[in-house]
Amino acid sequence: MKILGIESSCDETAAAVVEDGRKVLSNVIATSLEEHKLYGGVVPEIASRRHAESISGVVKEALEQADCSMDDIDAVAVTYAPGLIGALLVGVNFAKGLAFASDKPLVPVHHLRGHIASNYISGSVKPPFLCLVVSGGHSHIVAVKSYTDFEVIGKTRDDAAGEALDKAGRTMGLAYPGGVSIDKISTQGNENAFKFPKPKVSGSPYDFSFSGLKTSVINTVHNAAQKGEDINVADLAASFQKSVVDCLISNLEKVAVDKNFCKIVIAGGVSANSKLRAEAKSLCEKHEWELYIPELRYCGDNAAMIASQGYYEFISGVKADESLNAYATMPIDEIYKKN
Ligand code: KG4
Ligand code: ZN
Repeated sequence: MKILGIESSCDETAAAVVEDGRKVLSNVIATSLEEHKLYGGVVPEIASRRHAESISGVVKEALEQADCSMDDIDAVAVTYAPGLIGALLVGVNFAKGLAFASDKPLVPVHHLRGHIASNYISGSVKPPFLCLVVSGGHSHIVAVKSYTDFEVIGKTRDDAAGEALDKAGRTMGLAYPGGVSIDKISTQGNENAFKFPKPKVSGSPYDFSFSGLKTSVINTVHNAAQKGEDINVADLAASFQKSVVDCLISNLEKVAVDKNFCKIVIAGGVSANSKLRAEAKSLCEKHEWELYIPELRYCGDNAAMIASQGYYEFISGVKADESLNAYATMPIDEIYKKN
């Protein structure tokens, strides 16, 4: 079964064709990242306009590269939540038009479920497993009970890990996205040079909080500037990255031990982080757990992961009609209901 996936939740306009949820036949991505760099973050209006300009060419290219026409496609899967609303609407409306013009089923896909599925196109993992999903907008520890059954066990109370890395990177004067810049520059830094407080989260032992860490790094930079002192950015970046990764890994370990998971998966844009990948490996080696990590090309936003998850949603009976809407926020465990 061939699924055409469409993704436009942030600044990537993407389309892909995936066979039976696992085999990527094409994966095309157009990004407006360079324009957003000028502003130090994604400008929603620019992202929406670029999606509107690129989407039909990107979809056409994805079909061509997969050597397909719409006749060969069994369903159209599209990210409908969560994300920037104007950006999502471009993909949703395009997918609706295409699905109904070509008389194909339309399958709504939750963006974070898509990130988890980036592991289905990267390797052989099958649910059940425990997944740390870390992106620019979300930090979740999710029990993936089946391809379509999710339980959130831990989540951030404030900033997502990617958001904290991006804001810290900006304060350090690094290029957007800060997460990518921090990862790069950290290889030259001493991660023990700066000490940051370990965030305390009352209530659930599995939840995260990154806003205190972020404020702490901002204060460090501002205090140094006020005193006219130079700061070693590589040391600061490496130390901050270590603190963020320590929080992610220690909660992941707690959940896995308490809930008896021995199959661990990471996903989302931040899963490209070299420190997080290395620490996840050490953690799983220590406990002799299986670890699955997406290929780097599938860590960031792409449509192959949406087509993959779309396949599993479709065979479980999820289908939308022309009333499908886009939503800026939506819990990962929410079951799709027609309007
Ligand atoms: O999943 P994603 O591409 O988009 C969202 O769904 O948000 O994640 C984007 C986030 C950004 O915060 C970016 O800084 C972060 O992923 N990111 C990284 C790395 N690559 C992307 N963070 C740390 N290290 C990286 N190598
Ligand atoms: Zn994403």
